[in-house]
Amino acid sequence: MQLFTNPFRPGAGQPPPYLAGREQERDAFSKLLQQNPILQNLILTGLRGVGKTVLLETFRPIALENGWFWAGNDFSEATSVSEQNLAIRILADLSPIVSSFTLSATPKKVIGFKRTPEKNEVKLTFPVLLSIYNTTPGLETDKLKNVLEVVWDTVKSKVKGIVLAYDEAQILKDKAADKQYPLSLLLEVVQFLQRKQIPYLLVLTGLPTLPTNVIEARTYSERMFKVITLDKLNETECREAILKPIQTKNCPVTFSEHGIQELIKYSSGYPYFIQFFCKEVFDAVLQQMKVGIPEPVVTVAENISKLDNDFYFGRWSRVTDRQRELLMVIANLPNANEEFTIKEIAEKSTELKNPFKTAYINNTLVKLVEFGLIFKNRRSKYSFAVPLLADYINRQDDERKPKK
Ligand SMILES: Nc1ncnc2c1ncn2[C@@H]1O[C@H](COP(=O)(O)OP(=O)(O)O)[C@@H](O)[C@H]1O
Ligand SMILES: [Mg+2]
Repeated sequence: MQLFTNPFRPGAGQPPPYLAGREQERDAFSKLLQQNPILQNLILTGLRGVGKTVLLETFRPIALENGWFWAGNDFSEATSVSEQNLAIRILADLSPIVSSFTLSATPKKVIGFKRTPEKNEVKLTFPVLLSIYNTTPGLETDKLKNVLEVVWDTVKSKVKGIVLAYDEAQILKDKAADKQYPLSLLLEVVQFLQRKQIPYLLVLTGLPTLPTNVIEARTYSERMFKVITLDKLNETECREAILKPIQTKNCPVTFSEHGIQELIKYSSGYPYFIQFFCKEVFDAVLQQMKVGIPEPVVTVAENISKLDNDFYFGRWSRVTDRQRELLMVIANLPNANEEFTIKEIAEKSTELKNPFKTAYINNTLVKLVEFGLIFKNRRSKYSFAVPLLADYINRQDDERKPKK
């Protein structure tokens, strides 16, 4: 048997062997690139594991094909971001793309920036960008606006515009207590540039708290964005995600129709779960084939505890016992995998003989929102930010119950 590596790729940001669906989303992004002037930016949101990061990565070549520059990064490692952090980060993300351009802005804009007479060719490297930033008078917003204008003036004859793409952007939250408003800063700067018809296009991806953060940061900022919410894949897309990667030459593994149905059922169409279960099932089939079992039998259900360990456990292990009690009450709601209210949680807790006060529920939810397990939508209802979390919690709860 020829060596054939497992094609499936469960894991945050891991490009799938076949990216199913998402054509509409890519079209929407292409359309945004055609705007002149830029009036709308993009927010791509959805639960964890739904495919935001990998979709964002497919936008990059679309931007390049359309004659745009693409600069970006993700905030996944950051715990919080200050205004200055953010500004410097943007410069650092832009500099590799623009560093071979020779500075060609009006002297007024690079006011404090010293050109040495012997070296009149100044390239837009990071130190140069930083020095323009630091010597621009005013607030962080003024400094950033100015550098981004200088960058644009320098590259505008070569490109149609510059995409600024940031992943895990829910981290960019204004913090009034620390007098830090990084999200407002970003929105203000982008809006200012777009009003001056300077084509920067902002693309933010993140958990469903992101659109709410954006609205809270700046009045009318919802008008600045087209918001796309990624959802599970439909049946056809699921089949493609499962089958296309194994319908290639040399692939020794096939899935039966029953197997495919099981994969769709257990993954509920969530991309991460599809990759996860397919990888495990593929591996199990291959191993059995290698030792000569002619018709390997593998069930998807056997892999659930592995999924629990790989996907949920890390998050679950970091919540306190008291918070878990509340999460267990929520998981008992029939609508736990959709939206729920504080009132419903309170009623359920009474019914389960472990009554929680509304104020306590409210405070705990605030903490769980910060923690990224729950989010609050615009209608003030709550949802889990992790797909099928209620099912996981109920599985934990079942294990704790004494076995009869
Ligand atoms: N459209 C898709 N088709 C197949 N697999 C996908 C698709 N989108 C995402 N995936 C897979 O799902 C997993 C999670 O994707 P990721 O982009 O990290 O999600 P998110 O950023 O929303 O948390 C990855 O393993 C990725 O390969
Ligand atoms: Mg991601």
